[in-house]
Amino acid sequence: VSNSPLTLTIETSCDETAVAISRGTEILSNVVYSQLELHAQYGGVVPGIAKLAHQQKIDEVINTALNRAEVSLEQIETLAVTVGPGLAIALEVGVNKAKELAKQLNIPLIAVNHMEGHLLSSFANQDFAQAQLPALGLLVSGGHTEFILIEKLGKYEKVGETLDDACGEAFDKCAHLLGLPYPGGPAIARLADVAMPNLTINYKQQHQSYLLIATSNLTKQTYTLTIPMAGNPSLDVSYSGLKTAMKQLIAGLAGVDQKLNIQETGANAALPIEFTAELAAVFQVAAFRMLELKLQKALQKYPSIKELWLGGGVIANSYFRSLVTQFAHQNQLILRLPAKELTTDNAAMIAIAAYRQWLDGNYLTPNQHDQLDRQPNLTL
Ligand code: KG4
Ligand code: ZN
Repeated sequence: VSNSPLTLTIETSCDETAVAISRGTEILSNVVYSQLELHAQYGGVVPGIAKLAHQQKIDEVINTALNRAEVSLEQIETLAVTVGPGLAIALEVGVNKAKELAKQLNIPLIAVNHMEGHLLSSFANQDFAQAQLPALGLLVSGGHTEFILIEKLGKYEKVGETLDDACGEAFDKCAHLLGLPYPGGPAIARLADVAMPNLTINYKQQHQSYLLIATSNLTKQTYTLTIPMAGNPSLDVSYSGLKTAMKQLIAGLAGVDQKLNIQETGANAALPIEFTAELAAVFQVAAFRMLELKLQKALQKYPSIKELWLGGGVIANSYFRSLVTQFAHQNQLILRLPAKELTTDNAAMIAIAAYRQWLDGNYLTPNQHDQLDRQPNLTL
């Protein structure tokens, strides 16, 4: 690590303006300016607002990152930037800034896939050489839910994914149904934590369906949910059915016609808080049980897997963190769980993926900088 280049990394793929200073996987500073408040009132990220905010904040975030790492811009030896996947006009701000700085400093430039950043986020201040392969990666964010087989660092095979909504997206939509603020994940998690102690959870195989049955000793309610894809041998998941099921549970409790479009009427907001909390908990348990069932299937399919690598905003969820910790322990897997601040979008994880590429000699020399462009639809 000591002879690896001092790197400045920029990430602007969505609604975080983020810059990290690193050497190898060692993170010297990691600064994130979150635009959350700017988008919250719209219930989602507005690309035009994201672009403007990135443009306004990028220089300040760069300077803060340099200051915190106690290095000057002139000392930087490599530039790295997220090129995709993400919002095109948001990515563009980071890409242009990285090109400008790399040109000014006349140093190499590394194009990074945001998803590889999430995948390698647990390697912050760790040594890649410690990884025992093959490993299974599980990426769970607002835009992605993917199972990745890693035979070799840098060689990734997607072996399962969501067929519709991403897990984080499902949290956001469910939160909306429950009248909770955006982003939904943290809001659901907070309420679920309150309700969980009152719930007894059971699972039941019935005909072709795999059911979650939760009984509350507080409200005396019983909630039944079908966990989608449970019986399907693939490693794919699906979250749109869960959303529909939640709508029906909410409608049932609200005593309104099930055909009513809850999302439009907002009738859900009238639910007493203890019911909202229990629904949040039931949803959270179901959403993660689906992932756990697929992790089990993945181990059956690929018995040589030695490690489990987690990444993505949803990995901030405490309930899921303890669930996967237990799962890894039971299955004798080495668990790589990123620190919470590295689960949501940040530049430190991008810096780690950049270093992986640098080790592979995968960077643009100054005369190749023009080749760098944003790739909004990039995949792993
Ligand atoms: O990785 P990320 O910051 O952005 C994307 O690249 O998508 O993930 C954001 C997603 C949002 O859907 C958010 O609701 C979810 O992660 N999230 C959570 C939690 N914290 C954030 N989901 C469940 N539990 C949480 N504690
Ligand atoms: Zn992300």
